[in-house]
Amino acid sequence: MRQDTSLNPFCALILVITAMGSQAQKQPEEAIDALLAKMTLEEKVGQMNQYNGFYDVTGPAPVGASGPALKYEHLKNGWVGSMLNVHGINEVRAFQKIAVEESRLGIPLLFGFDVIHGYRTQSPIPMAEAASWDLGAMEASAQLAAREAAAAGLNWTFAPMVDISRDARWGRVMEGAGEDPYLGAQIAKARIRGFQGDDLSNPHTIAACAKHFAGYGFAEAGKDYNTVDVGTNTLYNMILPPFHASVEADVATVMNAFNILNGVPATGNGLLQRNILKNKWNFEGFVISDWGSIGEMVPHGFAKDLKNAALSAVTAGADMDMESYAYVTHLAELVKEGAVDEALIDEAVRRILRIKFSLGLFEDPYRYCQTPPETLKQWEETHMAQVLDMAKRSIVLLKNDGQLLPISKDQEGILVIGDLADDKNSPLGSWRLGSVDHSAVSVLEGISAYRDDFNYVQGPKVFDDQADFLHHVSVNTTNTKGMEEAVEAAKNAELVIMVLGEHGFMSGEGRSRTDLGLPGLQQDLLKAVLAANKNVVLVLMNGRPLTLPWEKEHVPAILETWHLGSQSGHAIAQVLFGDYNPSGKLPMTFPRSVGQLPLYYNHYATGRPFDENDNVFWSHYTDEKNEPLFPFGHGLSYTTFGYNDLQIKTLPDSIVEIGVTVENTGNLSGEEVVQLYLHDVVASVVRPIKELKGFKKIKLEPGARQKITFTLTEKELGFYNNAYEWVVEPGLFQVMVGGSSAAGLRAGFELK
Ligand code: GLC
Repeated sequence: MRQDTSLNPFCALILVITAMGSQAQKQPEEAIDALLAKMTLEEKVGQMNQYNGFYDVTGPAPVGASGPALKYEHLKNGWVGSMLNVHGINEVRAFQKIAVEESRLGIPLLFGFDVIHGYRTQSPIPMAEAASWDLGAMEASAQLAAREAAAAGLNWTFAPMVDISRDARWGRVMEGAGEDPYLGAQIAKARIRGFQGDDLSNPHTIAACAKHFAGYGFAEAGKDYNTVDVGTNTLYNMILPPFHASVEADVATVMNAFNILNGVPATGNGLLQRNILKNKWNFEGFVISDWGSIGEMVPHGFAKDLKNAALSAVTAGADMDMESYAYVTHLAELVKEGAVDEALIDEAVRRILRIKFSLGLFEDPYRYCQTPPETLKQWEETHMAQVLDMAKRSIVLLKNDGQLLPISKDQEGILVIGDLADDKNSPLGSWRLGSVDHSAVSVLEGISAYRDDFNYVQGPKVFDDQADFLHHVSVNTTNTKGMEEAVEAAKNAELVIMVLGEHGFMSGEGRSRTDLGLPGLQQDLLKAVLAANKNVVLVLMNGRPLTLPWEKEHVPAILETWHLGSQSGHAIAQVLFGDYNPSGKLPMTFPRSVGQLPLYYNHYATGRPFDENDNVFWSHYTDEKNEPLFPFGHGLSYTTFGYNDLQIKTLPDSIVEIGVTVENTGNLSGEEVVQLYLHDVVASVVRPIKELKGFKKIKLEPGARQKITFTLTEKELGFYNNAYEWVVEPGLFQVMVGGSSAAGLRAGFELK
């Protein structure tokens, strides 16, 4: 059904907007009103519909009556509001042209994509970036990603993922900022600032999307897409704060989650999407469903069919439907039947159009299609330098006994072992859709930039690299070929660098694991090599905390390098050889065993935290310690830092000033993340034994001292009670300041 486009009202609309000039930008509400008044019900519903790219738009248009052809018809009818996974200015321009020039009203499309940690140039996975605790660097990393994505025609990213999680079995921990709501909130704001800048209409900025609202990271047993059932204390004080911070940072969109939350699917959850997000927090952007999550309310057992799912979702406040066809198929019918008030549709469409106006798409639908393709190439050098810096800052030195690190430049007899040392694909992580597979700098290439007098032995092949975003990687657990060669080589080496860990596609969506040890024969290889040569540096390359108790006990030096993106090998080499002193701190607890999970630092005391006579009746395991392998906030340096002179000053209006002196007690300059933890000793709902309430990353020369101050206000001293009210209660508080959640100086104060 072709629309009469002889008098394309879009042109008329453009004339109106242009006449209104920047007024439309400042107050799009009037322009939105004007547009809404022109729209048919089907066109309004169309704005609430998002399709995945459905054909190579530079080729022939799909024909037929279903599938791509149906989507193509909907596009021309103006029944599509956004596309995802369409990128490249030619592809975007071609789709936009259909929407703008062939539909009746010519409303421009949004183009969304998973720009999770870079578009073409990959920065470290978000978990790694979070380990830098460097908010400025993370903001700049998101800004770089936005520039590249916008240059490829995109104007919307489905990031940052702000899900708190305490369970490393869940593969998507790689995509977030770890277990702490305070750190997670600060990082969410930094990433949103980076993506969106201070003007969404700037062609180098894109709309961000805080996801997945809410609770996805608390999937039971760390199994992806699994049930989420948490209490209000956890929901209000752990899960929601990074989303609330995102709304306060003016995030343009929010994506809901696949999971049920306490029995109600997030997509159909009015408490979450209307009561809290839109009403209490006054969110003015729009909510997009996750892929098919509206339709998935049928298998959840919450909707009897797709039509019922559409009714539940729109009533609960889901504004746009990603790929479940529920809205485009049933919403108009539901309105005509009187089951859905058209005012709900208008409200959702208003939110969507508001973002399109903010992006400047009504002024110029092709605004994001102007950057010449060669520009990405021109940016490459500076962008690679920037992601290299980000990568170095993301590395965490977990252990360094015997001072094997940093490796001196005149060190002889270096041997590198491990499949991952030569892997140019894994460092890109699993969310690298806009990048080029196998394009990362490998560890071998990074070391080669320093020296060519080292040997490399792969050892047993670990991964059969047929994996991609949609398919698992297979792991060799039987073929020991290469083990003997590695051991023989180790006997003749002075120093062995072993690069072990997870393939890049072993973490991410759909990648939950029940065993968090080194996959395959890697630990066997490590044990055999260590028996032949005790001077081993273990370089970990992984997307989640791993259980490494044997490694921690026996390996003298351990470097956590995550999946560091395009410049991985150079970053690792520069830390190994001391050109960068590692400064990262763990954003997520490393457990000793999977049996301890979920394991997190900000836990509650319980009524039996210990037993002075070590009887059996207290909160512990008979076969495992309570303590983690490496605690939240842990990270060493090639130098050392001392903390002294902790001072607390309580002032009126619940203001508390904390001061501490930090000293570089070593002989190398280095950076330290000074962390402030708080414990509200007695409260109307129990509070964690400690909660991060401030941090500062500082650089000190050897012997230098610096006084660091933190100011606690009601924002830090309070918490949400079970009625979701923010309360600050008088009483005793404990303060801990140090370079980890497990160390530091402690003092108390009383809040009157
Ligand atoms: C996926 C993910 C979500 C992503 C979306 C679009 O299933 O859950 O994070 O943004 O679909 O790719």
